[in-house]
Amino acid sequence: MTDITIIGSGNMARGIGTRAVAAGRSLQILSPNEAKAAALAAELGGNVTSGPGDALPAGDIVLLAVPYGGAREIVTRLGTALAGKTVIDLTNPIDFTTFDSLTVAPGTSAAEELAALAAPGVNIVKAFNTTFAGPLAAGSVSGEPLDVFIASDSDEAAAAVASFAADAGLNPVVAGPLRRARELEGFQLLIMTLQVDPALDTFNWNTSLKVLV
Ligand SMILES: NC(=O)c1ccc[n+]([C@@H]2O[C@H](COP(=O)([O-])OP(=O)(O)OC[C@H]3O[C@@H](n4cnc5c(N)ncnc54)[C@H](OP(=O)(O)O)[C@@H]3O)[C@@H](O)[C@H]2O)c1
Repeated sequence: MTDITIIGSGNMARGIGTRAVAAGRSLQILSPNEAKAAALAAELGGNVTSGPGDALPAGDIVLLAVPYGGAREIVTRLGTALAGKTVIDLTNPIDFTTFDSLTVAPGTSAAEELAALAAPGVNIVKAFNTTFAGPLAAGSVSGEPLDVFIASDSDEAAAAVASFAADAGLNPVVAGPLRRARELEGFQLLIMTLQVDPALDTFNWNTSLKVLV
């Protein structure tokens, strides 16, 4: 039995994989670059297996740690193989040519577009798009646990992601239905523009969006 499958073996796979191992969850890493997936599995230690990008995901939670276009391709290709699973979309569909807008139309979000592509019974959850990879691997910024904003139309799937985040030492914030992904993706566009602003020279992808209470 596998708790979590991460598809992708890049920065976010490393950050969330680190948190999954810290949470004591069993993990499968799948990537088109199978050698990279195996190297990341070995680096993470713990109960971690790896495989090729076209293997079927074994985890109850499947995290798409790939660009938005890749996530669309994976959700389409896997189809009913994802039915009944909790599928986390962490993508930020940013237009990197301008760094000034999202690539999804106003009035929707990457998460909602993925839900429209997905087979019936696939529970899409927006989460982890406002946590940068470095702070995720560290688990905190300035000693504060990272907020993980969660949006889904499935209460059960949102609760499963919240439970994972809490076990991983993070602070889950269930933000509402999947359409809240519009605001989460917009927030992160703003946060990303701040990281690249030369006037804000202490912001270097080392920040995290948090609600102070
Ligand atoms: N980096 C951050 O701090 C951060 C924060 C929040 C959200 N995000 C989001 O997280 C996602 C991943 O970002 P990242 O920084 O981890 O990128 P990355 O380091 O470039 O890793 C991307 C991974 O996706 C794989 N991939 C690409 N297209 C694929 C496809 N069609 N099918 C399967 N795998 C595919 C790549 O495989 P190869 O190695 O073979 O190319 C690579 O393993 C993006 O959507 C990004 O917007 C990133």
